[in-house]
Amino acid sequence: MNQSECFKEILNLKIDSDDIEFLNLLAEKHIDDLKPVQKKNPDGTLRPIFHHYMDFYLRNASDDYSDHKLFGKIATVVGKSSDYIYRKAHLALVPGSLPYHIDERECALTISFKKFSQPITWVDSDGLWMDEYYYENPVLVNTKIKHGCLNNTEHRIMFQISLEDTFAKVSNLL
Ligand SMILES: [Fe+2]
Repeated sequence: MNQSECFKEILNLKIDSDDIEFLNLLAEKHIDDLKPVQKKNPDGTLRPIFHHYMDFYLRNASDDYSDHKLFGKIATVVGKSSDYIYRKAHLALVPGSLPYHIDERECALTISFKKFSQPITWVDSDGLWMDEYYYENPVLVNTKIKHGCLNNTEHRIMFQISLEDTFAKVSNLL
């Protein structure tokens, strides 16, 4: 199989029933804390609020979840500290159609709560299809290539770690 420059499944990150229980608890507890995002451009200016993607960073919760072993597990796989992973950990919600866009972050380690009916799709600068992925396993997503899910009609809830290293650099570790 040729390696995609758009995503890479993280098969050595084993999510056990305790992790799943933890993720479900987070989603249950913080679903109302998710807010539309406003990120920055490379020059530091603010982007318009992006209502198609909502997030909530766990570091902003009144509870401290940083002791959970899931953060350490992820840290080992991507070569970062557990503290770093916790700072970048958040819940994400795509409530409907997600237009094509490029993120401020380089890439995102993503664990979905279920398999979605529509894939995330990547297109090149001419709008031509490059690749797609149905969330099934923990996956590293390249967020610097245009991506979206135009036909989404469900609430896509995910657990994500936003990473500042390039997709190429992180995927080499996996
Ligand atoms: Fe994105």
